Formats: sequence, C-alpha cells, structure tokens
Amino acid sequence: MAIRLGDIAPDFTAQTTEGTINFHEWLGDSWGMLFSHPADYTPVCTTELGRTAQLKNKFAEKNVKVLAVSVDDLDSHNGWINDINETQNTSVNFPIIADSDRNVASLYDMIHPNADNTLTVRSVFIIGPDKKVKLTLTYPASTGRNFDELLRVIDSLQLTANYSVATPADWKDGEDVVVAPAIPTEDIPERFPKGHKVIKPYLRTTPQPNK
Ligand code: BEZ
Repeated sequence: MAIRLGDIAPDFTAQTTEGTINFHEWLGDSWGMLFSHPADYTPVCTTELGRTAQLKNKFAEKNVKVLAVSVDDLDSHNGWINDINETQNTSVNFPIIADSDRNVASLYDMIHPNADNTLTVRSVFIIGPDKKVKLTLTYPASTGRNFDELLRVIDSLQLTANYSVATPADWKDGEDVVVAPAIPTEDIPERFPKGHKVIKPYLRTTPQPNK
C-alpha cells in the first residue's frame, strides 16, 4: 500500500555499503531522507549520488541523514561507487542499501509496474525525528532530482514543524512566511513580534521567525 504523509516510515534492517543498518535505530533523533535509484551503473543515478555526496555536509547541518536504495547487490554498489567518485569528483560518504531482494523497494512501494516491472522509480521520503513521513516525491527514471529543492523543502518542513507558519510558493530560507490560518489576526503581534502584514484576512505574512 502507498505510504502517506503522517504514516510511520516502515522500519527495516538492510545490508548497506556502510554495514547492516536498522533504519529506525540508525535514524536516532535525526531527520532522514530515503531515496531510490532505478539501478547501478546508470547515468542519471550516477550524477544524483555524486550530488548527494557533495551536499552531505549541507544535509548534516540540517540534521538530516541520507540513505540511498538501489536494487543491486553490494559488490555492484562498491564498484559503482568508484565510478561515481571518479566521474563526479567526490567521495560517496553515505550508505547505499543493497536491495537485491527488493524488500525496501516493496515496503516503500518504489516499484511502479506500469513504469517498470523490476526497477524502482525515483522516490524520496523525508522522515522526521518522530519517524513520521513528512514528504513524498516520485520522479520517473528519466528525470534526475533537483537537490537544491530537496534542501529547500527540508528548510520548510523543519520551520513549519516548530512554528505556526507555512511557506509560500518558491519560498527560500530567510524569506517572509505565511502565518498559519489557525492563528487569529489579533494574536499575531504576540506570536510573531518581528511584525506582520495583513494582505487579506486569510493571507498574513511575517518575517521568518527563526532568523
Ligand atoms: C539513469 O539513472 O540514468 C536511468 C535509469 C533507468 C532508466 C533511465 C535512466
């Protein structure tokens, strides 16, 4: 069954390029990003994993652990990592699950048979410290993901987890945010002392509260 926002992310134990991982235990109190790749030794995936390695510190600054899934075995992953490091000018520094039995792919509904019977689509699951799924994304094999967008959405998820705000279209860290509809306008000055604008009774903005 498809995984929905707010569900507890299914737990699993899997072999990875950095040893055996129990997912929930490995996450600990961190946020997590679990993301699937159709197969090893494929061009788009090679660039995506290289980009993830380059951004590892940015994910870590946001307290996010990254974990990739690909339905090939460990020997294949280890050989492929050499190619990723060489061609993407980086060093893969996060675990890749060897999901040859497709256990994780099935748990997370990453194989969409009408797209491909055996390979996964490009799924992304962002999971909070409470182990609940905060965001799901699905891209086809032919489209590489935008990692700046993944970092951006993590900023939004972490902000909205802590404050009664939402983030408007194309919002980026540091920009004004929208006050949650549940907050009455008369309560805004006390809740958001940095100031606010009432553009419409239902559209109130305020400077980002944690900046
Ligand atoms: C790729 O990662 O390049 C890829 C994988 C499967 C189908 C198409 C592209």
